[in-house]
Amino acid sequence: MKTAIYPGSFDPITLGHLNIIRRASGIFERVVVCIMPNAGKLHPMFTREERVALARRVVSRFPNVEVDTFDGLLAEYAKTFPEGAVIVKGLRANTDFENEFQMALINKKINPELDTMFLTASQKYTFLSSSVVKELAGYGADLTPFLPCEIIDDVHERAACDPIQTIFHRLRRNTLWEETKWTTKSWNSLTSFIPWCRRHGACRSATKNASSSATRSLRSSMRSRPPCRW
Ligand code: PNS
Repeated sequence: MKTAIYPGSFDPITLGHLNIIRRASGIFERVVVCIMPNAGKLHPMFTREERVALARRVVSRFPNVEVDTFDGLLAEYAKTFPEGAVIVKGLRANTDFENEFQMALINKKINPELDTMFLTASQKYTFLSSSVVKELAGYGADLTPFLPCEIIDDVHERAACDPIQTIFHRLRRNTLWEETKWTTKSWNSLTSFIPWCRRHGACRSATKNASSSATRSLRSSMRSRPPCRW
């Protein structure tokens, strides 16, 4: 039987992902969770290597599931399976469908042998996404209903060490934007500030300084802080 490739950015892997993995592992002899870059998600919470490690920890309970990573196109990755492969994706809602349908057709165009199969998300996880989890983590919320227990501490720890992530997620959902009346200029300077922030480490309390003069005050408040684990 063909191998099922379950691709995604998995930043981080959620209970929704795990539900799809569990069901796919009951259908296919072998499931490969492939952690890939998503061109639309430029500021992941975890590096690719970290995401692989987190996913491996979580799927170790399934004997026929493994975790891999690939830098190129998914359609090309599928060609590396001599016995053939199908892509498995989870579908949560109409909004997922449009995007997934397009990706399935493009992958088929690049690799005509490659089919995509969809598993409907379990109803209890249709609301769940890695982005929502990251936003909740930024507020220190209880993540047990959303994440596999093996990785909850890692996500909390990273959120606490990464105020920039928190700021990004709040900005994306417009809450911080409304609170601080940020301009495009402050958004751009925040974006350029991320590599500096990651080099020096940042702690949750520094987010208190994220006002309209965010980059200047964050920079000075963090200078004396010990670096966080990256
Ligand atoms: O979990 P995500 O972020 O929705 O997963 C999207 C992902 C990683 C599967 C998609 O971006 C992808 O396939 N990336 C690999 C590069 C590629 O093949 N791009 C063309 C997709 S049509």
